[in-house]
Amino acid sequence: MDKEAIVASGALQGSTTVPGDKSISHRAVMLGAIAKGKTTVKGFLDGEDCKQTIRCFQKMGVSIYHGQESVTIEGCGLDGLKEPSEVLDVGNSGTTIRLMLGIMAGNPHFSVVSGDESIAKRPMARVTNPLMQMGARLWGRENGNRTPIAVNGDTKLTAIDYRSPVASGQVKSALLLAGLQAEGKTTVQEPYRSRDHTERMLSAFGVDVDVYENGVAITGGQTLSGQNVEIPGDISSAAFLLTAAATVKDSHLRVNNVGVNPTRTGVIDALLAMGADVSLQEERIVNGEPVADIVVKERPLHGAVISGALIPRLIDELPVLAVVATQAKGETVIKDAVELKYKETNRIDTTVNQLKQLGANIRATEDGMVITGPTPLTGGEVNSFQDHRIGMAFTIAGLIADGETVIHGAKASDISYPGFYEKLKSLSQS
Ligand code: S3P
Repeated sequence: MDKEAIVASGALQGSTTVPGDKSISHRAVMLGAIAKGKTTVKGFLDGEDCKQTIRCFQKMGVSIYHGQESVTIEGCGLDGLKEPSEVLDVGNSGTTIRLMLGIMAGNPHFSVVSGDESIAKRPMARVTNPLMQMGARLWGRENGNRTPIAVNGDTKLTAIDYRSPVASGQVKSALLLAGLQAEGKTTVQEPYRSRDHTERMLSAFGVDVDVYENGVAITGGQTLSGQNVEIPGDISSAAFLLTAAATVKDSHLRVNNVGVNPTRTGVIDALLAMGADVSLQEERIVNGEPVADIVVKERPLHGAVISGALIPRLIDELPVLAVVATQAKGETVIKDAVELKYKETNRIDTTVNQLKQLGANIRATEDGMVITGPTPLTGGEVNSFQDHRIGMAFTIAGLIADGETVIHGAKASDISYPGFYEKLKSLSQS
């Protein structure tokens, strides 16, 4: 049976690491594939989503070797991708499908892209609409909003100036990758700055990208050259350990070698705003990405407002921050986070409904949630609904709760954090 039983097992202690960054791992495979020459990737996340990206590019004729220590990609250039003879299956991965659509839109082949049940419910119009404005020929259910999506890349794309209604790393990245193949200069502006790994990695691969406040621009026709990439630990995975250590009595934990790109460190800012004892040590730059060791010590927390520009910087960490908020004194308000509804599950519903079942004082709002604490949680039966971050957030709730919490669908954690349950056990016993 795919379930885990969690009981409070005492303070989290010691020093550890987390698997490689998911966003950067996807991009390393994609940019490696469309670059000329060899790319070697160390620290690649061996999770289901990133493996799906590898499989898709292998189906387009790219030679990719996934070894124990590294992934090697024999880049064939943007013009060297082959027409896939099968459907490109992205599994559960929104990043794979949205970024790949940007590549496929300008590549002179016919391809069909699809994924699992969750992908079939997620909005694709945010990417397909602007791509169609660039001249891309795309078809899908609901006028290109739902998978499966067919792409015929037989027309030359034209650059656009696009004002994205959402702050989304996936939308921005898809348009940058299409812009690379378009005539002219493509610009993307967003309401708030989203994660900028694509811009950073494109620069490392030799492409000129102009970055300005809340916007980026790229000129078509540039070529990428293969690189050696070293990927830091994923702050979105570290977040589960950091939040557990911030709330479980007497914890003192150090997570080494974590990516601390400022577009991703909202979880640290939110914990600090709640009064947590968190610090960054040994800050350094690796391959154009900021990296540090993060140290957390448990101490009493209080409520905070999490909103605005902070939201895209911690969007994936909001379910587990809601768990933390149940233990903080006073009110925590999460707002401007309507994007939570469009993730692997509707994360406002899956977080609020299940935290209520465990005894939290929490209510959903139109664009977030309000939590009043501290409330003791009581163990119960919860479900990941095959959403990795929901399963892991409720595992942290299980560490705080009295009694046993059973997580159904716990294996979903393999999407982004293989070995999550073993890691938690080892930290609680050290
Ligand atoms: C991602 C961007 C975010 C994030 C997702 C990964 C990326 O999604 O939630 O897990 O790698 O670009 P949006 O682009 O939809 O905000």
